[in-house]
Amino acid sequence: MTKQEIYPQRPMRFRDWWYQKKSQFYASKWVQDISARLPLLSRISRKEGEAIFQLMSGFVDTQILLTFVRTGALDKLRDRPKSIAQLASLIGTDAEAARVLCGAGQALGLVVVRKDQVSIARRGILVLTLPGISELIDHHSVLYSDLQDPVAFFGGQSERQLAHFWPYVFGAKDGLDAEDVSRYSDLMTKSQRMVAQDTLDAITLPKNGSWLDVGGGSGAFISEVLRRQNSIRATVFDLPGSNNGSGAHNFIPGSFFDDDLPSGFDVISLIRVLYDHSDDSITKLLTKVYNALPENGRLIVSEPMLGQNSPNRWGDTYFAIYTMAMNTGKTRSAIEIAEIMKKIGFSNPKIHRSKRPYVTQVIECWKK
Ligand SMILES: C[S@@+](CC[C@H](N)C(=O)[O-])C[C@H]1O[C@@H](n2cnc3c(N)ncnc32)[C@H](O)[C@@H]1O
Repeated sequence: MTKQEIYPQRPMRFRDWWYQKKSQFYASKWVQDISARLPLLSRISRKEGEAIFQLMSGFVDTQILLTFVRTGALDKLRDRPKSIAQLASLIGTDAEAARVLCGAGQALGLVVVRKDQVSIARRGILVLTLPGISELIDHHSVLYSDLQDPVAFFGGQSERQLAHFWPYVFGAKDGLDAEDVSRYSDLMTKSQRMVAQDTLDAITLPKNGSWLDVGGGSGAFISEVLRRQNSIRATVFDLPGSNNGSGAHNFIPGSFFDDDLPSGFDVISLIRVLYDHSDDSITKLLTKVYNALPENGRLIVSEPMLGQNSPNRWGDTYFAIYTMAMNTGKTRSAIEIAEIMKKIGFSNPKIHRSKRPYVTQVIECWKK
């Protein structure tokens, strides 16, 4: 088959002509030179130049950040400033390398260098102390090694190591290995605080009744539910081995793919669960949730989502690529998820406005 047969050319329309002219206009060296000189246009072209530079250098930024976390440099600056030489000896580099690192760290807002003294900046303190952030930064080396050859990554020709970081991705009918669980569950538990805060701030908590957190892991989310409303009867459903059953909640072990969900709970939540799985799998899971809920039962879904009509850096770049690297995962927009909910029979999906879309976005719907 010729290229012409595969992609038959349609006749040129005004829209195509305009598209071509626009591309030629921006690509022209003359236009680029003039825009760099004229007052208003020069601002636009400078901003575009800066944005392209940032796109190009983003990997270097993440590696500087990783160095500050892995060497413990931020931690060592936590209580008092240090001289460059002191910091160098504490993190095991020579003074010149530490000077370059600190200059880069200052440009990224992590530290402040004055004369020969380095102190931690507000952003550095937040990186160090926000729960789960240092751990997240540290584990990104797995994702970045998967993206080493991005063309092979998008072509599906390279092995994706991130999938191994999350063992349940491959199915774990007989329960999870304790070492695997503690590796990822620590990361999930620490980063759960902000997710739980934003989720529970968005919705109205019931005063009592029963709540099942499906895929609730070690129980960090359900513990926050109980901290806010201790009259709720709370249960976590997750793979055997993922929860040690020591919290104030009950634990029911099982697989949401192989087993039915326990029924009769007034509220079911799925927190950072759907984006780990394919459309087929989540349709099956949401159908099980629908069947398990009583009439007027409520489903709460909370996880980072795509920007739908205006793609954004966290959803459409970070989480979309991250979940793709897990092999089975897929980040979706709130509208996509709401459509699947409606198809299954849920009513009135309500998409809450997200306070921190890079942390989570919340949708509620009801079985009516
Ligand atoms: C990304 S973690 C989210 C954990 C927790 N909800 C949170 O936000 O911190 C996904 C959770 O789904 C659980 N999970 C994965 N596959 C499962 C299955 N087939 N049945 C039950 N739970 C499963 C995992 O064990 C894990 O706890």
